[in-house]
Amino acid sequence: MSSIAEKKILLDKLATKIKDCQLCPLYNGTTNGVPGEGNPNADILFIGEGPGKKEDELGRPFVGAAGKLLEALLQHIDLTRNDVFIANVVKHRPPANRDPLPEEVSACWPYLKKQVEIISPKIIVLLGRHSTHRFLPELVISQAHGKPYRKGNLVYYPMYHPAAALYNGSLREVMFQDAGRIPVILKKIQIN
Ligand code: URA
Repeated sequence: MSSIAEKKILLDKLATKIKDCQLCPLYNGTTNGVPGEGNPNADILFIGEGPGKKEDELGRPFVGAAGKLLEALLQHIDLTRNDVFIANVVKHRPPANRDPLPEEVSACWPYLKKQVEIISPKIIVLLGRHSTHRFLPELVISQAHGKPYRKGNLVYYPMYHPAAALYNGSLREVMFQDAGRIPVILKKIQIN
């Protein structure tokens, strides 16, 4: 198992590759690649869809309106961004925030896979249908959210994407309820 310092070095090296990545055309017209950020040794890895406008400008994940809600959800369970790691399925912003194409998701997959391997989290929170589909293609987010799924030696926890709650206010409360279960699930994993 790697030390925190070793994990940080590995993640930083990967981040440099991601920022220079031209494996698919998504980098065209973007300002920054957005590798992800947070605690290299996090117990909880959050995975969103892909960078939006603000994320592209700053090269950081979830720094726009959806990010504000993610931060509120973290605060709800007494955590900050620095306690967790936040990444995305695709690392460059899709034009006009369109859905990432399957071939773009596939091209970016080795980076996300490597991040999961390096961080080795206890639970992966899948934010929205794109990240849920990448890891648990058999699930539908409207039914799967708020329930943990064990697959291999990892536990996944699908949730609605924070941006969905910005468009549909009724999802906000559901998201807080779902987030509220994360510490309990984490505790159970640590006991098992
Ligand atoms: N939405 C995402 O899925 N990821 C981000 O980084 C920002 C918004």
